[in-house]
Amino acid sequence: MSPQSPEQEVILIIDDSPTNLVLLSDLLQETGFTVWIARDGETAISKVTEELPDLILLDVLMPGPDGFEICQRLKSNPLTSEVPIIFMTALADPVDKVKGMNLGAVDYITKPFRQEEVLARIKIHSKIRKLTQSLAKQNQLLKQEIKERIAVEDRLQKLTEELEKRVEERTAELTQAMYDLQKAQLQLVQKEKMSTLGQLVAGVAHEINNPINFIAANLNHAENYIEDLLEHLHLYQQEFPYPGEEIESNAEEIDLDFLVEDLPSLVASMKTGTERINQISVSLRIFSRADTNAKLAVNIHEGIDSTLMILKHRLKANENRPAIEIIKEYGDLPLVECYAGQLNQVFMNLLSNAIDAFDEHSQAYSYTELEENPNKIVINTEVNEKEDKILIRIHDNGPGMLPEAQAHLFEPLFTTKPLGKGTGLGLSISHQIVVEKHGGQLTCNSVRGKGVEFVIVLPLH
Ligand SMILES: Nc1ncnc2c1ncn2[C@@H]1O[C@H](COP(=O)(O)OP(=O)(O)OP(=O)(O)O)[C@@H](O)[C@H]1O
Ligand SMILES: [Mg+2]
Repeated sequence: MSPQSPEQEVILIIDDSPTNLVLLSDLLQETGFTVWIARDGETAISKVTEELPDLILLDVLMPGPDGFEICQRLKSNPLTSEVPIIFMTALADPVDKVKGMNLGAVDYITKPFRQEEVLARIKIHSKIRKLTQSLAKQNQLLKQEIKERIAVEDRLQKLTEELEKRVEERTAELTQAMYDLQKAQLQLVQKEKMSTLGQLVAGVAHEINNPINFIAANLNHAENYIEDLLEHLHLYQQEFPYPGEEIESNAEEIDLDFLVEDLPSLVASMKTGTERINQISVSLRIFSRADTNAKLAVNIHEGIDSTLMILKHRLKANENRPAIEIIKEYGDLPLVECYAGQLNQVFMNLLSNAIDAFDEHSQAYSYTELEENPNKIVINTEVNEKEDKILIRIHDNGPGMLPEAQAHLFEPLFTTKPLGKGTGLGLSISHQIVVEKHGGQLTCNSVRGKGVEFVIVLPLH
């Protein structure tokens, strides 16, 4: 065996015939191959297991394990199975060449050797082996690359997912922060609105109360005095039917007969007026119940009535439309524990919205058309004892609203009204008061052209 240079290919010849061995090794060495030799199967197998040759020339007929058996053993060992084997058979040998090929040999050559043929076949197989090896290597590299790419893609995917998750979390945080901010702002606005309005209304009510009380009290006295005076005048007239020219012409001038007749009804209408003012003052005080820090058991109908009283000037007829009819369908409600002032604010918002809708809607119709089909607000209340709650429905027969509006109704700042007319806070504040302050529900049903119904549900306990 000669020393092997790195680029030289190694061929192992396995043959028991020294003549063949010499012949072949001389030929192959001259051609530039490194040649190993083995004279029997066992030596050859242990040699191949130690270090792999590039190709094996294997004689078939040998003492000990024959070529077929050696071939089989080498092919069944994963370490040695890839080395190409070329069988050598004498032309006269009764050997089944197909059997050799089936066992995994790549080719066979026949003795006596024709040198060119031997070399040509060895070179071809050596080339095939090299190509196969380089293919396998490339395959290996490709597999490695694919593996790396998959790993990179995996990492990328994970990173993307992580990023998406972080963006999602951050968006959720920001949305929540925004929502909290809006809510805080709303609460502030609502508190401010309520306290300013409440204070104003309570102040006005208080200021009205004193003068109206003494007008009412004095009016009773005035009525008695007038009765006495008229009685007295009557006596005079009876006693002195002809009081003289001056008195008679004065009586004519002041239309004494009409004055005497009209004075009592004048006083009566003044009394009605003071009673009305008194009612308004009571309504104002009920509406503005400023006690917002504690729940009170109140009569819900009083709250609605006081709100209607405050809105009276808006319900009246104006140049564009007749008066809005209010139809009360009040059920038998118990006293309800609630923040009365705030709840009145809700009634105020819902009723104002209905009136706003009527005002806008009416512009499209003639006065007569509106008289034939009057604007109506139905206020219905009922108690649901089984579910321990009360329901307040405020239904208008106005224009109704579009589904888009309905979808955003309770969002702060949503309005369809022109700039300066609506802030878009009314319903979101009402929602907050009903849902968050009272644990109730505020819902809206609307069909375009058929009006709007708001339903307030309040738990009783
Ligand atoms: N009864 C109703 N009929 C028709 N549309 C309504 C009715 N109630 C509410 N809307 C619609 O809902 C929108 C929001 O109402 P919301 O009370 O929250 O705000 P606004 O009335 O526009 O302004 P603000 O109440 O702050 O003055 C209104 O702009 C209107 O388009
Ligand atoms: Mg409103």
